[in-house]
Amino acid sequence: MSGQPIIQAFFDEPTNTISYLVADRSTKHAAVIDPVLDYDHNAGEVDTRSVEAILRMAEDAGYTIVWTLETHAHADHLSGSPYIKAKTGAKIGIGEHIKEVQRIFRPVFNAADLKTDGSDFDHLFKDGERVNIGELEAEAIYTPGHTPADITYKVEDAAFVGDTLFMPDYGTARADFPGGDAHQLYRSIRRLMTLPPETRLFICHDYKAPGRDHYAWETTVAEEREKNVHVKDGVTEEDFVAMRTARDAKLSAPRLLLPSIQVNIRAGRFPPAEANGVRYLTIPVKLRGGAEACV
Ligand SMILES: [Fe+2]
Repeated sequence: MSGQPIIQAFFDEPTNTISYLVADRSTKHAAVIDPVLDYDHNAGEVDTRSVEAILRMAEDAGYTIVWTLETHAHADHLSGSPYIKAKTGAKIGIGEHIKEVQRIFRPVFNAADLKTDGSDFDHLFKDGERVNIGELEAEAIYTPGHTPADITYKVEDAAFVGDTLFMPDYGTARADFPGGDAHQLYRSIRRLMTLPPETRLFICHDYKAPGRDHYAWETTVAEEREKNVHVKDGVTEEDFVAMRTARDAKLSAPRLLLPSIQVNIRAGRFPPAEANGVRYLTIPVKLRGGAEACV
């Protein structure tokens, strides 16, 4: 037993994302999970304040960051992993099924530069694969459904579940992105619910549930099983899928969906510069109804 990880959370209010710094107290090796790049969509400007805050915290504590881990290709923020890698040499890891996500989105963005073999990432995790963070043991658990490629990273008694579960009073994430599947999401959640009840769960987003005046991101398997408003014990797959499908039908596209996906499937890199030296993000446009005349 190598003890419990030291966990620090970083909340990014513009995208409601929680990033984590997870460290082994004996070797001071550490991993960053789901770092966020500061992206101002209106201005087309990108900054690194949020990742710098994580790096500063790590430096002050004397940590060596060995991994920067993505739970999935996020649709609501741009990944800060390339910056972590550039500054520390940490390896960028994601689930091996990211290849499917790359295959889905390459044609959407006409991303000729994008390889669809996952090789933009340094490591592709398989289900059940284990790696060390110092003396801590991290295990990748394949938890698809929200997207086809989600991974939960279990580090000793803590599991970083990405968007596979939200806080018990908020429920679950949507499952209607391309390749998402509410049935798969239900089964992934049930799988997480077989972890020991005291397992600490750290979620990737929080939006404050109705009646809660503060953000929250840590819960346990026991609490989720007892209280999750969408998927507590006793909710059947059929009921969950009916609820999730009805809710998803009413949700609009996330504000940063298009910018996020095209960067995150490139392991956080921006598309190549065009002939004028400028990098552009692409917005594929669907012409509906009368707009078809606007060409
Ligand atoms: Fe997500």
